[in-house]
Amino acid sequence: MESIWFATHPLTTTPNDDFVEGAHVDTVVAGAGLTGLTTAVLLARSGQKVAVLEARRVGAVTTGHTTAKVSLLQERGVAHQTRDAWTYAETEPAARQLQGELDACRAAGLDEAAWTAESELPFPIAGALRLPGQAQIHPLEALEALLSEFTAHGGILIEEARVTDASSKSPVTITTTRGRMTAERLILATGTPILDRVVGRSDGTSQALADLIAWTERHFSGAEHTHAWSAQDYRSVDRVPFVGPLPRGGGRIDVATGYNKWGMTNAVAAALNLSSQILEGQTRWADTLGHRRSGLAGAVDTVKANAEVGMEMTKNWVEAELRAVPGEAPAEGAGLVGRGEKGRPEAVSTVDGATCRVSGVCTHLGGVLRWNDAERSWDCPLHGSRFAADGTLLEGPAVSDLPRLS
Ligand SMILES: Cc1cc2nc3c(=O)[nH]c(=O)nc-3n(C[C@H](O)[C@H](O)[C@H](O)COP(=O)(O)OP(=O)(O)OC[C@H]3O[C@@H](n4cnc5c(N)ncnc54)[C@H](O)[C@@H]3O)c2cc1C
Ligand code: FES
Repeated sequence: MESIWFATHPLTTTPNDDFVEGAHVDTVVAGAGLTGLTTAVLLARSGQKVAVLEARRVGAVTTGHTTAKVSLLQERGVAHQTRDAWTYAETEPAARQLQGELDACRAAGLDEAAWTAESELPFPIAGALRLPGQAQIHPLEALEALLSEFTAHGGILIEEARVTDASSKSPVTITTTRGRMTAERLILATGTPILDRVVGRSDGTSQALADLIAWTERHFSGAEHTHAWSAQDYRSVDRVPFVGPLPRGGGRIDVATGYNKWGMTNAVAAALNLSSQILEGQTRWADTLGHRRSGLAGAVDTVKANAEVGMEMTKNWVEAELRAVPGEAPAEGAGLVGRGEKGRPEAVSTVDGATCRVSGVCTHLGGVLRWNDAERSWDCPLHGSRFAADGTLLEGPAVSDLPRLS
């Protein structure tokens, strides 16, 4: 499935450099989404020599598949539209939750936030929250503008170079699928889920899409279905983005993730926070992002999240071991995991007439994969890694492909 952003604005930018084995730069940024490119621009503006290493292509993951409400990027002349932001509640319990959001808006000084029971929707609501004057952007136009400024400042973009390891010594040695390079600092702007996941534990993406289309047709007759896509974003245990030094990174490796589906603004805030720390500037308003919290509530949540991951892992291994992989090829667009010849989970799928057999075990920490019938990919229910039907890694935290079995 192709997102509306790639369909309407395919990126024409190409990598401006090739990988040079052993090259040294001030900062390597891993990941060319909104976080990575904004951070890279801010550092390059200050005169730093910066290389962005992108595992796939610019915008390939969440930024290219977002809904892109709200932006702080107008300095580069990226077109934007101003819209009121609406959140609707259909039930009384949901309306009570939404009232809490209104209270939070007021506490944050957003006095223009307003409650209403009226709406133009063709179905009844229990209440709605309106915040006027918000923005929406085309995320790929934003990335293109950032990239053009980055390269104008001498920044280096290398695509199809996945970071697979890094030392925490000085300088940091960064191992990639294209070779090694060194840097004074490494920033992981990869969306890597060292955190709890928001989406992706559900089965049947196609069914979810079908439900959404049916709901839209029921309430908005005549609506035309033009694009559909799916993506995932991450959240931290305490819901505050995780921005700052990576634990055991020797103070030289930083990470920025956990925006909980509000990355258009949080990615920019994270980039401002990280770049000001590196350049020894001041962004006090963004300090909350850089503070790690370890209170009891957070710990309880962590235990619960880990227990859920453990349950998921056991259940999926048992399920996979109970049924043997069938000899015949799955139908077009279908995939399944079962017990292979050596007793380990094997994943078999048919896409565009090609049947592929790959290991059914995620190369990150051994989760048993599930077929995503909408994206036609193998998705790991534990921490969100995704692989193409032929086993090629699409999204981490895994850093290697699935072994091919035939
Ligand atoms: C369906 C959906 C709707 C959303 N809607 C909104 C919205 O309306 N408003 C809003 O504010 N936010 C929204 N968000 C959230 C927002 O889109 C994300 O938080 C934001 O795009 C994350 O940007 P990022 O740069 O951190 O990550 P990404 O865009 O995922 O970029 C990470 C990059 O790192 C690369 N990478 C990964 N691993 C490696 C590696 N090992 N080495 C090198 N490169 C690597 C990836 O290929 C990728 O290009 C939404 C998210 C989703 C899923
Ligand atoms: S086991 Fe962690 S992503 Fe698969």
